Amino acid sequence: MLLSKNIALVGFMTAGKTQVGERLSVRTGLPFRDVDRLVEEVAKAPVQRIFETLGEPWFRQIESRILSELCAGSGQIIGCGGGTILRPENRAVLRDRCVTFWLRVSVAYVRTRLEEPGTPQRPLMAGRDLDLLIPELLRQREPLYDEADEVIETDGRTVDDVAEEIVARLGFTT
Ligand code: S3P
Repeated sequence: MLLSKNIALVGFMTAGKTQVGERLSVRTGLPFRDVDRLVEEVAKAPVQRIFETLGEPWFRQIESRILSELCAGSGQIIGCGGGTILRPENRAVLRDRCVTFWLRVSVAYVRTRLEEPGTPQRPLMAGRDLDLLIPELLRQREPLYDEADEVIETDGRTVDDVAEEIVARLGFTT
């Protein structure tokens, strides 16, 4: 299927943007591009280390550059980082060049997921009181995620289930 825009997945850390994006890619045949992974390729270092050594401003700058480069193309599934929506220019490019899905999760879900063994470390959470930080970040960010075209309630659902809902909302017939 040809798309003149891209499909973008936004939402808070642990919402499953990468896994849902990979599943959607298999399901639709469209390529999946993960913004965090592409920043890591530029830095040749994992996100955690980028924050420690180069700092968050550097990460945000490269994140914006990659998003705008990706959005110059079309027909891709783009997995954003949890904070990609923070910059107004990123939200503008998402609005113009993507059909955007917000994978929405609750405070309780994020808390549980972050504590699961094997969940990657998030630099923004390091050494912080999660009971305060998660609700505060969600309060700041939810109005920005809510600029998405579609909201998918994601709490406790499987990756396949969420991906199928996106496929249905897009009207894919394959
Ligand atoms: C961030 C979320 C992370 C990553 C970085 C910053 C954020 O992505 O981009 O740690 O500001 O919420 P995930 O949402 O994929 O964990």
